[in-house]
Amino acid sequence: MNKSFWKELVEKWPIAALAPMDWFTDSAYRQIVKWVNSNVICFSEFFSADGLVHSKFLADSVLPHAKIEEPLIIQIFGKDPEMFAKAALVIEKYNITGIDINMWCPAKKVVKSWHGSGLMINVDTAYRIVEALTKATKLPISVKTRLGWENPENLIDFAKWLEAAGANLITVHWRTYKQAYSWTANWEPIYELKKQLKIPVIGNWDVRNYDDWMKKIGNLDWFMIGRASFGNPWCFLPGNYTPNLWEILDTLQKHWKLLIELKWRKWSLESRKHMVQYLHSFPGVKNYRKKLVLVENMTDVENVINEIRQDFKDFLDKKVEEIIL
Ligand SMILES: Cc1cc2nc3c(=O)[nH]c(=O)nc-3n(C[C@H](O)[C@H](O)[C@H](O)COP(=O)(O)O)c2cc1C
Repeated sequence: MNKSFWKELVEKWPIAALAPMDWFTDSAYRQIVKWVNSNVICFSEFFSADGLVHSKFLADSVLPHAKIEEPLIIQIFGKDPEMFAKAALVIEKYNITGIDINMWCPAKKVVKSWHGSGLMINVDTAYRIVEALTKATKLPISVKTRLGWENPENLIDFAKWLEAAGANLITVHWRTYKQAYSWTANWEPIYELKKQLKIPVIGNWDVRNYDDWMKKIGNLDWFMIGRASFGNPWCFLPGNYTPNLWEILDTLQKHWKLLIELKWRKWSLESRKHMVQYLHSFPGVKNYRKKLVLVENMTDVENVINEIRQDFKDFLDKKVEEIIL
């Protein structure tokens, strides 16, 4: 892969990206999203640069992936430029397409030690991290950050600074570190940023689906969706696509199977959060949920899903909101 990866992709506008989400965008999740829309570019959960350098176990657990997930972007965090450079050499060995730097994370302990969002006010380190990665690897380097620390006034300077250090793409989540959740959407600073940079810009936050994004995209290059994809990988399809019951159950079953294959003993715990999302607004969901949290293997899962199929056999080609019992 080379540094022009992002620029070349932009020509296929508009491109959708799956947001990096800790405890969610693992290999199973990414495979499901790609299975629904093979054009989506997937970002991984975030991993510590130091962790990848020091733990072969971590690298061997999180970097191997299925071919369908490619091109795959791995997100890393940390604060030591040298560690980022070393982590890049580890990542390169696993057929990864690009490296994304987390300058987004607002968690107190992360920010306190100047990782994540903390890099927005520790701009020298931010620069040195991008520069070190750019020199260490041929992989394209991207940064995910926020509108700013307190307000958006430094966004353009900060992003230009990252661009000068060698960043090939920037994703901006349109809330600042200090903003409360009540803030209303203001895409203007990101549209303005796009005018000022040569590299592609992705906007992120509160996009419900492809069609919603097309209303907001303005002059931006891409859209990135996070939470709206929970139990709804169809959000990346145009036309306000809504799956029918058969598609939901089939996808849930596929997702479950992947979790069992990939997560060994942890799969059962991991699968609950996804299952709840897929069955959201299903009639009689409580009854099925009770059974699904007790499953111990794939046969148990298939039994419950087949029971749901049987209960709804007259509605399998209908959308959830069309079910009348
Ligand atoms: C459960 C969860 C975990 C997240 N983990 C990360 C992460 O590891 N790295 C990151 O840059 N952003 C992370 N985010 C933020 C998302 O990438 C995204 O910026 C945010 O959810 C806003 O987009 P949305 O409104 O489409 O969900 C996380 C968000 C959620 C909900």
